[in-house]
Amino acid sequence: MKFFVDTADISEIKKINETGMLDGVTTNPSIIAKSGKNFLEVIKEISTILDDRPVSAECVSLDYNTMMKEAEKLLTLGNNITIKVPLTVDGLKACKELSDNGVDVNVTLCFSANQALLAGKAGARYISPFVGRHDDWGIDGMDLIADICNVYDNYDFPTEVLVASARHPQHLLSSAKIGADVITIPPKVFYQLYQHPYTDLGLNAFEKDWAETGQSIL
Ligand code: E4P
Repeated sequence: MKFFVDTADISEIKKINETGMLDGVTTNPSIIAKSGKNFLEVIKEISTILDDRPVSAECVSLDYNTMMKEAEKLLTLGNNITIKVPLTVDGLKACKELSDNGVDVNVTLCFSANQALLAGKAGARYISPFVGRHDDWGIDGMDLIADICNVYDNYDFPTEVLVASARHPQHLLSSAKIGADVITIPPKVFYQLYQHPYTDLGLNAFEKDWAETGQSIL
């Protein structure tokens, strides 16, 4: 399972990159606004840090022609840019055109398996179903992930299921059990994955016992 982080916070991206676990970065207009930085500059910076791993940069226009122009500009920011488009008629038209020309496209704001099927037919490299925003409305977002994985398997779509709007480690575990290809998580959730109270307790005991031996390895 690939781990992407959903942030434009450069210092967090650098820190997580050093763990060796980072497979990609996703952003959206809200994340860019929160960073307080210039969109094009911050994407370029993330792209350099990620090197050959994918960085999703989202088109902000809603019509096909402007979306295609934005995509063209975003693609100049690095050779690892994935173009993010919304799941609309124009968005999927842009997805088809870009994908036919060898560009990786991440179709975002997916809330149904039918939408995911359309994105697959449009040649998307990634589909981003938003699980947390489903949960917000009392609907289990993980059912959607299972449905999409099932539909894609039925027809051998190469489109990768990128679980988005993941808010806690349980989202990751459930996604992994279903077999989703990728998950994008906030930095805080990334660090939560490492944590377990028994690990801390065990480590404390080992440290204490080792100190009593008076030995050192080095
Ligand atoms: C996906 O690519 C989006 O950037 C993101 O995961 C949305 O998450 P949120 O619902 O927590 O804002």
